[in-house]
Amino acid sequence: TTNHLRHVESMASLPSGAGKISHLNAVILGEALASEENDFVFPSDDFSRQALIPSPHKYLEMYKRSIEDPAGFWSGIASSEFYWKQKWGDQVCSENLDVRKGDIKIEWFKGGITNICYNCLDRNIDAGLADKIALYWESNEPGFDAHLTYSQLLHRVCQLANYLKSIGVRKGDAVIVYLPMLMELPITMLACARIGAVHSVVFAGFSSESLAQRIVDCKPKVVITCNAVKRGPKTIHLKDIVDAALVESAKNGISIDVCLTYENQSALKKESTKWQEGRDVWWEDVVPKYPTTCDVEWVDAEDPLFLLYTSGSTGKPKGVLHTTGGYMVYTATTFKYAFDYKESDVYWCTADCGWITGHSYVTYGPKLNGATVVVYEGAPNYPDSGRCWDIVDKYKVTIFYTAPTLVRSLMRDGDEASCISNLVYTLKSLYVTRYSRKSLRVLGSVGEPINPSAWRWFFNVVGGSRCPISDTWWQTETGGFMITPLPGAWPQKPGSATFPFFGVQPVIVDEKGTEIDGECSGYLCVKGSWPGAFRTLYGDHERYETTYFRPFPGYYFTGDGCSRDKDGYHWLTGRVDDVINVSGHRIGTAEVESALVSHPQCAEAAVVGVEHEVKGQGIYAFVTLVEGVPYSEELRKSLILTVRNQIGAFAAPDKIHWAPGLPKTRSGKIMRRILRKIASRQLDELGDVSTLAEPGVVDQLIALADS
Ligand code: PRX
Repeated sequence: TTNHLRHVESMASLPSGAGKISHLNAVILGEALASEENDFVFPSDDFSRQALIPSPHKYLEMYKRSIEDPAGFWSGIASSEFYWKQKWGDQVCSENLDVRKGDIKIEWFKGGITNICYNCLDRNIDAGLADKIALYWESNEPGFDAHLTYSQLLHRVCQLANYLKSIGVRKGDAVIVYLPMLMELPITMLACARIGAVHSVVFAGFSSESLAQRIVDCKPKVVITCNAVKRGPKTIHLKDIVDAALVESAKNGISIDVCLTYENQSALKKESTKWQEGRDVWWEDVVPKYPTTCDVEWVDAEDPLFLLYTSGSTGKPKGVLHTTGGYMVYTATTFKYAFDYKESDVYWCTADCGWITGHSYVTYGPKLNGATVVVYEGAPNYPDSGRCWDIVDKYKVTIFYTAPTLVRSLMRDGDEASCISNLVYTLKSLYVTRYSRKSLRVLGSVGEPINPSAWRWFFNVVGGSRCPISDTWWQTETGGFMITPLPGAWPQKPGSATFPFFGVQPVIVDEKGTEIDGECSGYLCVKGSWPGAFRTLYGDHERYETTYFRPFPGYYFTGDGCSRDKDGYHWLTGRVDDVINVSGHRIGTAEVESALVSHPQCAEAAVVGVEHEVKGQGIYAFVTLVEGVPYSEELRKSLILTVRNQIGAFAAPDKIHWAPGLPKTRSGKIMRRILRKIASRQLDELGDVSTLAEPGVVDQLIALADS
């Protein structure tokens, strides 16, 4: 095809052998291109012609520069595309990423004075975007919506910022935000940023205990929430959850003076909301009274912007801390290139601002680019599986960014139906095809590996075979995209996140931490720093170093496995630590275990991940019971309820496997390797069981597997 030729031509015209990027040059010279033509999906000529990065050649030119001169590359972008009250000092980046050489330290643009809210709003308004739509808000209930222009958004942000100042919130103070996807969520984030306060958004699906744990850890000045939210047909009383969390945190010595509560009228009326006089304040009663302008608190590039808690391999969540300047430059730049952003785009990311994707790619990245963003309150399949495409058509969405789990569940609706009858199949596929979707031009995927069949359905059915898919690999810790296609530049391989973003040097290491080159698989690490990297774990720099920098000294360890194929494409293979990825949400096995053992009748628990058709991974829990307690259906339900109450519904185990005993080594360590095999019923792959203290427990477990 002409496409194919064009790519080979542009690849072949590049110089080869630049040491640091040898795996990329392997692609340029790649004889594999011709032989594996069927694996590649090429961007159309039309797309490439208009793309910001139209060819591998252009990508390589910029990538090379970003690696050879990171300071020059990033400071060029930082100074030309952002407002700085004062320029940074002599050093663009100062870092130590090697534990053997002292404390880990990452700083970008230190001494530079700026404000990310100013860059998101004021700067864009000054550049002529005052009347451009900043946010389209779509309610859970079809037919209810709202929107704000950039200048209206600024007014709302300023009013809240002024209110927060009036109750004593100052630069550096933490603010806990427990809000669903209302416009007030990005408004709150931006208001905090405007006054230098550090927001910590807690996903409004977390339980009161998880919320309390976070409140106790970061000791906020104020908690911001709403009375309730509707998700699909269900009403969730968020304020009740906050009330319980505040009782719990008070027991731990942290009492909160102000709980600012937004009345989400479509879900619950004021009158029906439980209220604590003196502490609880209605947002609508106070915020609109404040002025619509608010001076910016100018902060250092290295001042903290937000804390976001994420799961690790121990029971205690980690407070990932991001700072201002580097995060700003990085999220804006990754957004622009990975989605080939143009001013006329309408962008919709289905992620919730309670996760990192909502931070970097609902709020900051898009706003920094002056984009029009759709924020959707509800469930993606409510009232039916066509809702997403209805929203796409309604707002003429051009860039649609979502998670593989949603793609798979929408895809399954079609598949399931085809088993019932052709007639139903036709009706179900109409969920997609009855909408035009012709506005779409770029699709995105995030959160977990996207399996090739889901990729192809997304590409062919949703995108009508014309929209490149940016399969973005990154993490809460990385702040922004790390490995991602740049639409228009590269031919894609379904299921591969392709190549590193500018400035990112992924390396694959073996068990000993030795870098392996060429076609290989191993542990994914990153060499060097990038501006969006997290700087510490809040209050626990030692854990930061131990978790991320000690396993393979000299590198940042991602916790993911990865292979690189002969063309240099990266294939993420999932977590290699005790973290499970359920529907793109990270859940630590230890957290689920500690919730289970808090149940009075549970003696011990071991949790592993198993493949799940829609969620990617499901949670599989082995439990042993307190002596004399019989296992029953009722107990199973009550164990699951305990996890829901302690962490949140999204962490509820899919399967409870009653275990009279767990396989342990003689030193008492649970052998998860064996449990994983039992959970996935790969019984002929149990491996060596001779080191077990009691080998008999394995047979017992197998016998009880499907009981
Ligand atoms: O295992 C990887 C997986 O999600 C993890 C990061 O989770 P979290 O910090 O919650 O952030 C999710 C949104 C960025 C990674 O360690 N992951 C994320 N994106 C991908 C992915 N795995 C494969 N392909 C992806 N595109």
